[in-house]
Amino acid sequence: MPDILISNDGPVRKIRLNRPEKKNALTLAMYEAMAAAIEDASSDASVRCVLLAGAPEVFCAGNDLNDFVAMARSGALGTPIVRFLHALARCEKPLVAAVSGAAVGVGATMLLHCDQVIAADNAVLLTPFVSLGLLPEAGSSLIAPRLMGHARAFSLLVMGKPLSAMEAKDAGIVNAVVSAAELDAHALTAARDIAALPPESVTLARRLMRGSSEEIVARIDEEVEAFKVRLSAPEAKAAFAAFLSRKR
Ligand code: COA
Repeated sequence: MPDILISNDGPVRKIRLNRPEKKNALTLAMYEAMAAAIEDASSDASVRCVLLAGAPEVFCAGNDLNDFVAMARSGALGTPIVRFLHALARCEKPLVAAVSGAAVGVGATMLLHCDQVIAADNAVLLTPFVSLGLLPEAGSSLIAPRLMGHARAFSLLVMGKPLSAMEAKDAGIVNAVVSAAELDAHALTAARDIAALPPESVTLARRLMRGSSEEIVARIDEEVEAFKVRLSAPEAKAAFAAFLSRKR
């Protein structure tokens, strides 16, 4: 089975992360597949909504840390990562996410680009960027303070304090918290409800509400430049090595 499953359910494009044995940690190939599916959805009139989902026990453990180690050596951030982040920011179709279990790093920050987020009651959002020696990415340094205010965004993005599903709802990231058993059905209903609306009106309303996608792209690029440097910082190297060599 591929690590990213892509299917169309009527007007809803489903993108499901499917690498549960590695907690849906994202490889470059996974970024590439997700970016292509989102870009294609933007230009395909038959797609009216994109639904992102993970596995029942984990949404996404963030970037594959083995890839971060390789990128630190090469000094380049994989182009599929940047392509995916740009695709999220520029996506012309509403994005819905179904989140259960841990959403770590980019697993959490991709949610900030979504128009509706449905969370299972076991969902936890965690962005340990700074404790890994890194910094917030995916445009989160711009979007999160706007969404939840500077102080709460600082707790999440800099101090690495986790948000439970209910806390993420209070912060305005999550729309509804449901049981894990109800998650997929609830998220699909939300996606179908959006898909049933007049598409031109949805697009126009969404563009106005989201503001300039190029402002977000510019921030993503600024974050990427700093991120590339931080990947080879001693704190980052030590944190990656500690995780990848831990004894369990
Ligand atoms: N990169 C690479 N491998 C990862 C990974 C990641 N981001 N997250 C999990 N994995 C791997 C583990 O190494 C382990 O592999 P193994 O079975 O070959 O040893 C497997 O996935 C299961 O992970 P494990 O940690 O045992 O699962 P858990 O349920 O105890 O914890 C998490 C789940 C998500 C809390 C934990 O895996 C984690 O903290 N991952 C790292 C998250 C992170 O720092 N991401 C980067 C943010 S910028």
